[in-house]
This record gives sequence, structure tokens and C-alpha cells, in this order.
Amino acid sequence: MATVPLSHDVRDLSLAPDGRRRIEWADTQMPVLRTIRERFERERPLDGFNLAACLHITSETANLAITLQAGGASVRLCASNPLSTNDEVAASLVADFEIPVFAIKGEDESTYYQHIEGAVAIPPHVTMDDGADLVTTLHTRRRDLLARIVGGTEETTTGVVRLRSMEASGVLEYPIVAVNQADTKHLFDNRYGTGQSAIDGIIRATNVLIAGRTVVVCGYGWCGRGVASRAHGMGANVIVTEVDPTRAIEAVMEGSRVMTMAEAARVGDIFVTTTGNIHAIGIEHLRSMHDGAIVANAGHFNVEIDIDAMEQIAAKRRMRPFVDEYRFPDGHCVFLLGEGRLVNLAAAEGHPAAVMDMSFANQALCAEYLVQNAASLDRKVYDVPTGIDREVARLKLVSLGMEIDVLTAEQRQYLESWELGT
Ligand code: ADE
Repeated sequence: MATVPLSHDVRDLSLAPDGRRRIEWADTQMPVLRTIRERFERERPLDGFNLAACLHITSETANLAITLQAGGASVRLCASNPLSTNDEVAASLVADFEIPVFAIKGEDESTYYQHIEGAVAIPPHVTMDDGADLVTTLHTRRRDLLARIVGGTEETTTGVVRLRSMEASGVLEYPIVAVNQADTKHLFDNRYGTGQSAIDGIIRATNVLIAGRTVVVCGYGWCGRGVASRAHGMGANVIVTEVDPTRAIEAVMEGSRVMTMAEAARVGDIFVTTTGNIHAIGIEHLRSMHDGAIVANAGHFNVEIDIDAMEQIAAKRRMRPFVDEYRFPDGHCVFLLGEGRLVNLAAAEGHPAAVMDMSFANQALCAEYLVQNAASLDRKVYDVPTGIDREVARLKLVSLGMEIDVLTAEQRQYLESWELGT
């Protein structure tokens, strides 16, 4: 007898009323997604498609899932990080919107992967990922499901890096649209979203004063720029560590000091990793930090700080939610936030809805694009089509009630010509 797929696994369905209000609140900040949802309701472009999404389960993601459902998709959701689920929102999605969700904040690693199985229990045609754990599960343990998948999307830089590595190794089995690469995604979500929400997570977890503190930002990609800029704005002395010389100069010209991590470790008060790489803060750095230094990660995976090595030598004590003290044998202690997982989602609510509006508008439109163009796509990682990126920007401007100029015929002609000079 065939086993009936689990209908959901969330903390507590009685949390649904609070979750519903959170979802409605986020919707007030997501006008672009709402416009798309209204069109999807009329046109049903995703009719007949099963869509498995492995995303942070937040009120913003809920609005995306509701939009995909309005477009006709059968949506199943699991978490893309064990600590990023909002349990109220997860409950409401199940109870109020009949969307199967498999996610519980604080789930262990084995439950995390069982939940991915829950999301694919109705075999998907389209996948939506944030970090590529769903795609890698399908390419390893669940290869039986690959044949029917027409395509997928990826939300974040780390996921795009993994997927490009799969493509380069010749193992990627279906096309993926890299939503992260859209201008209307990374220029806003990574920069302003991470910038604000990482600082928000640090403050909610600790209530420390930022003004006058030395904040060390490790990595100066779009997320690092955002965190550095917001830390500057709150009166911090900002240090940036980098491996790329051009990015390092940009950081200097934006008013930060640049130095190696070995130097920064000795002087920083608050450390935030945004590198997407392993052990940006190693055990030698943690050893040399001053007593009471605060360490947080805003990159996708909890690998940026060498927590394992610290666990071996330091005594751990939970000081308050999302704050663990690690006391080293020499007596100094370091405070680790959110277990080294994404501090903005572990200790706060992730990016504000107004930026997720653009990220998730791209997701919805790319899902539509994939089902309409599957036949002509190869097993590659694709950028978001420029038309979708520009449409998202246009809709956002409309929603802000702003108009912009258009080129005159004379200006267009000037740009297309080369004869006119000095
Ligand atoms: N990633 C960062 N912030 C997020 C949010 N609010 N919802 C979903 N994914 C996110």
C-alpha cells in the first residue's frame, strides 16, 4: 500500500491566528507581489504544477507561497535553515491557507532533512531553494524525482555558488534561474535587507549599544556593504576584512578601516561574518579576541566561525536567548549569537517585507518563466531575464508612487551615435 505523505509538521497549529496577522502585516509592505498575485489569480500560469520550496519560513515567504498557490501551483514548504522558521507563520500557512509546511524553529539536523523529504513527498515539477539544500538532496538521495522536474530557482549567493559548481562538474540535472543575480534582488535584499536585519538581530539578541563600538565586518560583498553602512550610520567604528583587493579599496573609500582578520580580532567589539566561506573567523582569532567580544554570522551557513574548535576548548553557557558565552581556559570569553546561524533570521525576523517584495516578485515571475520556457532551457544556471528584473523595478516604483524620466528621441539618438565629440 502506498504511504500517504505527511500533511504537515509544524510546532503548534493553535499559533495560527498570530501567524495570520503577521502574514497580513507583511502583505501591506509587499505591493509588487500583490500585483503579481492578482494577475496570477486571473491567469493561473502555474496550474497543474507541484512546487517544492525550501525557504526561510517567514511572513514574507508566506506571501510568496500564497501567490504561487494563487497561480495554480500545489505548494509544499520546508525550512532552509533550522533556526529561521517563524512557528506562528508556519501554523497559519497550514491552518488558514492549506499549504503543507514542514518546519519547526530549532529543529535538529535530521529533522531538517526529514522536512525536505516532506516537501518533496508530492513529487515536484519546480523547486525553489535558498542555499541549494533542496537541489542537493534531489541530486543525491532522491534522484528518483529528478526526471519530472522542469526547473528551479535559487534565492541566495551561497546557493548560486553551489549550483554553479554543480553545473561546472556536469552534474546539474535541470535548469535553475539564479534569482540572487537580479539587480532588483541583490542590490536591495542583500545590501539593505541584510544591512538592517543583521544589526536588528544583534540588537534584539543582546541590546548592546552600537555607537562608539568597533564593528568588524568580514567580507565586503553586497551583504557586508549593507552591514558596514548601517553600522557606520549607528556611530560604530567599522573595520572591514577582505580577500579581494578591489573590494577592500571600496571599503576604505566608504570610510572603513581595512586590516587582516588577525589584526581585527584583537581590536573588534562586535564581529559579523558575511563571506559565504568557511572559517572566516578561525579559532586563532577567537582566542585573541578581547574579553566580552560578540561574534555573529550573517552568511547563509553556520560555517563562517569555527564553532566546533571553540566547543572543544571553551566552556559554554547560555546567557539569554540566542546568546551563548564561551569561556576560554585563559579566562576571556566570547559571546556567540544565534549559534552562528544567520543572526538576522535566528534572533530577529529576517529582511523587512519591503525588500523581500522585490526578491519574491522575482521568484514568482521566474517560476512562471520556467514553466513557460522549460523546453528551451538546458541543465545550466541562468540569470534572471532582464525583462523580469526591469518589470520588478518598474512595479516597485509604481507602488512607491514615483515616476521617472524617459529618454527623448534626441537623447536616444545621441547615445546610439559616435560622431559627436568635443
Ligand atoms: N531571507 C532573509 N530575510 C528573509 C525573509 N524575511 N523572508 C524570507 N527569506 C529571507
